[in-house]
Amino acid sequence: MNPTQVSTVVADPASVADAIGSRFSCRAFHRDKPVAREQIEELLALARRSPSGTNTQPWKVYVLQGASRDALVDKVCAAHDAIYADPARAAEFREEYDYYPEKWVSPYIDRRRENGWSLYGLLGIAKGEKDKMHAQHQRNYRFFDAPVGLMFTMDRVMGRGSLMDYGMFLQNIMVAARSHGLHTCPQAAWNGFAKIILPHIGASDSEMLVCGMSLGHAIESEPVNSFHTPREPVEGFTRWLD
Ligand SMILES: Cc1cc2nc3c(=O)[nH]c(=O)nc-3n(C[C@H](O)[C@H](O)[C@H](O)COP(=O)(O)O)c2cc1C
Repeated sequence: MNPTQVSTVVADPASVADAIGSRFSCRAFHRDKPVAREQIEELLALARRSPSGTNTQPWKVYVLQGASRDALVDKVCAAHDAIYADPARAAEFREEYDYYPEKWVSPYIDRRRENGWSLYGLLGIAKGEKDKMHAQHQRNYRFFDAPVGLMFTMDRVMGRGSLMDYGMFLQNIMVAARSHGLHTCPQAAWNGFAKIILPHIGASDSEMLVCGMSLGHAIESEPVNSFHTPREPVEGFTRWLD
């Protein structure tokens, strides 16, 4: 065991709690406030300390900025618009793994609905305002204006457990971002567009898209960033067995 790890004392536990507690899904970023490459490298260097089954480290990261980011945004927004104009075209795009259940049941469907309607309510979007919903959903494919877009892939041969490992890696990036004053939004919205994204980023045929993520500086005054999502109390999901 590395002696510096085993003997390290977290001198300021409150900072750890603040970093975890202040992470939220940011949906409005300053387009013109760049993130230095060194900062992104630091986040990734910290996140690579994430645990993974038998230390397999299944993550592969693509960092998009500048022209590569903008070109991907254009391509995916065009596809998203094409599906809106002709919903039958959705069949051309499919996710490579099921992120969500095929059949929704309570309490998950209730939480999902509450989440969606609370967000739209905050944005002044009413039921049936399809154009507005489409435009808001499309903000995903503009990385919510973040200057940095991250795409995450893993080898298709890996098992489902690697997605667990991946979740820890993603969370570590998001928590580490807080120590740089940065915010993030993890995004499964990109998953259906893998056939556009994978060639764009130069991923090999053996890779599958896990998800995307927006990274940058949050616009504090944007109402969408005041969206504070609820959580079940600890006793709601914990059984103590003595
Ligand atoms: C893997 C993953 C994918 C997500 N995909 C999206 C997405 O595509 N678009 C989006 O706006 N939010 C996305 N979210 C954010 C969730 O809606 C959010 O985490 C949840 O509502 C809790 O809110 P919080 O992150 O602000 O605490 C995703 C979250 C995770 C963990």
